[in-house]
Amino acid sequence: MGRRCARRWSRNGPDAACELKNLATDTPYQNNGYASAMLRYLFVCLSGRYHAMYVGTTPKIAPFYQRFGFVYHHTVPGFFTWNYPELVYEDGVCCTDMLYLKKTWAE
Ligand SMILES: CC(C)(COP(=O)(O)OP(=O)(O)OC[C@H]1O[C@@H](n2cnc3c(N)ncnc32)[C@H](O)[C@@H]1OP(=O)(O)O)[C@@H](O)C(=O)NCCC(=O)NCCS
Repeated sequence: MGRRCARRWSRNGPDAACELKNLATDTPYQNNGYASAMLRYLFVCLSGRYHAMYVGTTPKIAPFYQRFGFVYHHTVPGFFTWNYPELVYEDGVCCTDMLYLKKTWAE
């Protein structure tokens, strides 16, 4: 698991939001509920401080977050193409755009 998983996305106040970063489970340990447990823990810890959480991800991983109430918010075209020194591949597919999803606690 990433050591730092969430950071502030916008200012304090009623509209303050945070961004989930670097959520990952080492391959041999996947599908044991670790990422789900981490998400649920973060929701409990952060729902009192932020009204929403964003996550930037790929089309392949987006369904994982949608299971937890995240919904599509916007796309950053070419994010993976322009921000990494080498092309990023996920299961043989070249990543280009980043999808941002948003979860508000009421959803
Ligand atoms: C996505 C990831 C964090 C999930 O971690 P994990 O610890 O295996 O997740 P959990 O065990 O809590 O949950 C597994 C469940 O999610 C489902 N799931 C996993 N990846 C999924 C996907 N891409 N789309 C839909 N469902 C997915 C599994 O089928 C499983 O379902 P089940 O509970 O009904 O059996 C892990 O696959 C990973 O580290 N991937 C590589 C890094 C990455 O892409 N991180 C996301 C950065 S935005």
